[in-house]
Amino acid sequence: QTMASAQAVIPDDFEMPTEAFDIPQSYTGDLSAVVIPEGMIKDRVRRLSHDIHSQIGSEPLALLCVLKGSYKFFTALVDELTSARFDCPHPMTVDFIRCRSYEDTQSTGNVEIIGLSNLTELKGKNVLVVDDIVDTGRTLYRLLNTLKETGVRRSWTALLVSKRVPRSIDVAEDFVAFQIPDKFIVGYGLDYNQRFRDLRHICVMSKSGIEKYKNLE
Ligand code: IMP
Ligand code: MG
Repeated sequence: QTMASAQAVIPDDFEMPTEAFDIPQSYTGDLSAVVIPEGMIKDRVRRLSHDIHSQIGSEPLALLCVLKGSYKFFTALVDELTSARFDCPHPMTVDFIRCRSYEDTQSTGNVEIIGLSNLTELKGKNVLVVDDIVDTGRTLYRLLNTLKETGVRRSWTALLVSKRVPRSIDVAEDFVAFQIPDKFIVGYGLDYNQRFRDLRHICVMSKSGIEKYKNLE
């Protein structure tokens, strides 16, 4: 298996006041702190792209975006990889699927994969799966299994964040941008019941924010 050169670890107590950043007014009460500012994500993604390129090499590469959570991470990564691979003879391709598993702040355990018909196009290819976050590991596990069944040649995973929690299922984490404490985070594509995806920085939710947008079903 591939190994990342070094890890970017966010310590348990690393939190900055939301007032110190350009958080939209409509969000401030719902968030308790900023944990990863957008600028830091950009810097980390640049280096991660170089690591990905030096390990995968210049072979043809299909990038698979796992929507919705990884939409920002994906575009940042594609841009940086394009620079890193500028002298490669093979271009990259991009594909999109959607996985859904969370209800409120709990993983439901049932992982739904939408847009599967696309997957046959990945048969025989080198695939870099780009996902937002690994928590229990169930979503990624299910997806990687499905890719194996589809008959991909090789697969790697690029993850925006990996939570410091015991996994329910062991899963390959090849390229991880940040390792974070066990806190429910939103922003930079990540949601809480479909909200906060547009938030620029990765933030921790406040108790009142979690209450306010709970799914009442
Ligand atoms: P897992 O299957 O438990 O590993 O969870 C992965 C999925 O759960 C991710 O793709 C996210 O959609 C969601 N998720 C897990 N933790 C968080 C979080 O802290 N904030 C927002 N979404 C999360
Ligand atoms: Mg989600």
